[in-house]
Amino acid sequence: MGCDDRALATKDGVSVRIARIEDLSHIVEIERESFPGYDHAFNYGILELWHAHNPEIFMVLENGNGPILGYCAIVPVTERLFREIVNGRVSSLSSFPRVDVLRQWRKSQYIHFEVIALRSDREFSTAIGAFYLRFAKSWAEDRAPFITASPITPVGVKLCQAYGFRKIAEERIHSHTYPIYLSSPQERA
Ligand SMILES: CC(C)(COP(=O)(O)OP(=O)(O)OC[C@H]1O[C@@H](n2cnc3c(N)ncnc32)[C@H](O)[C@@H]1OP(=O)(O)O)[C@@H](O)C(=O)NCCC(=O)NCCS
Repeated sequence: MGCDDRALATKDGVSVRIARIEDLSHIVEIERESFPGYDHAFNYGILELWHAHNPEIFMVLENGNGPILGYCAIVPVTERLFREIVNGRVSSLSSFPRVDVLRQWRKSQYIHFEVIALRSDREFSTAIGAFYLRFAKSWAEDRAPFITASPITPVGVKLCQAYGFRKIAEERIHSHTYPIYLSSPQERA
């Protein structure tokens, strides 16, 4: 078992681990079904590039039996990119400059919570969804004081609000407007 295979958290037979290269095509499938028509949706090439840059960006949920059940992307970014995000100029990993995405988690002050999504045909309990959300939230909070998110679905907005994020900007992409949220020590106090 390589270090990529270590479970970061487990509950009721499911676990979270860093994504392996063979998970990427399943991430694309879940991305397509979760965000149909979204301009900045991941494709395989984008995922492969960022996975090679820093595989720890992608954490998948699995039950050890077939393809993954879900994925999230939590991205350590430079202060310069953080400023761009909070000013509504960019919010998607698909358009982040590589130089502004850290290759390791050390010394990270800023995190962009890019996405979390589960298979739509899921048969597992909502407790598993809640477990995965809790894991992702504490993974981000344990690693950096400043966390941005740019939810593109009503569920994403609802989760940002439930988790105490504050709306601080809007990004315009073509005819769409996406809200930008921030969680900082101030919001979490
Ligand atoms: C985001 C996601 C992983 C959450 O999974 P989950 O924890 O199993 O939650 P559900 O999908 O069952 O959501 C059930 C409801 O509880 C809400 N909810 C879930 N966790 C919550 C929390 N901690 N606090 C408040 N509301 C919560 C959801 O908004 C949803 O409300 P609705 O029924 O009014 O729409 C899942 O909904 C998903 O994959 N969605 C598609 C992708 C997506 O939109 N991702 C978010 C944007 S990146």
